[in-house]
Amino acid sequence: MPTTDYADNAVVSEYAKLPPLNKFITYPALLTLLEPKEGMVILDAGCGPGHLTRAIAEQGARVIGVDRSIAMLSYALRHNHIPFRTQYHIGDISVMRTVGDSSIDATIMNMTTINIEEREKFYATFQQLERVLQPGAPLLFTDLASSFWESEVATQGRMLVDGQIYDIDLPLPGGKVLPVNDVFWSRATYADALSQAGLELENVVDLLPGSGTTAELGRFLTTPRQCLYAARKP
Ligand SMILES: C[S@@+](CC[C@H](N)C(=O)[O-])C[C@H]1O[C@@H](n2cnc3c(N)ncnc32)[C@H](O)[C@@H]1O
Repeated sequence: MPTTDYADNAVVSEYAKLPPLNKFITYPALLTLLEPKEGMVILDAGCGPGHLTRAIAEQGARVIGVDRSIAMLSYALRHNHIPFRTQYHIGDISVMRTVGDSSIDATIMNMTTINIEEREKFYATFQQLERVLQPGAPLLFTDLASSFWESEVATQGRMLVDGQIYDIDLPLPGGKVLPVNDVFWSRATYADALSQAGLELENVVDLLPGSGTTAELGRFLTTPRQCLYAARKP
């Protein structure tokens, strides 16, 4: 069973509606920690439809969005109201041919590694992220939270193993359900991949709706759905 196909135009139009968890939880958390400023060059690894790419550019930084899906990048280009500060590169982030060594001031990567099925590519991705970051620069990225696996998946009688492709229904506010078909990478594997790439893991935090969220989402989401890894190139 392959993971979600983000090269499929129907998947892209559905995803581009901006899942509320991104809008109210992961994007605000990533943007607050990132502190984008004029003069910074930021990499958005697996930028998808470019919502976060544009939000960073609006705060004055220049952003390079890299994605392997032409459908995702064409959506990002069609909706790009800030072209003077954004660049989109088509490519695989485990190879990252178009981004130079130590050329990036900070990298963010929202829900991208869940779509990398092969272990070698997963490890190579962190090596590439280390290569392009300047010394001292941060890498912030997200995945689903362990409390989600414990509360939603384990109670359905399923226990995932590292590297396993899952197919789950993610409940959303308003009774909607988002089918998600991606890869489970354990915290131990993230820690190992970061360490093998020469990146330091500083913290992992589970994310809950912040003050800017809707009351509906606040009532709905009482346990964290996503977590944020904060790492740095020494
Ligand atoms: C769940 S979407 C997240 C998109 C975006 N980060 C966001 O916040 O909306 C995952 C994205 O990662 C991209 N992706 C997955 N693996 C990739 C790889 N190895 N190289 C480049 N892009 C990749 C997919 O094409 C897809 O656009």
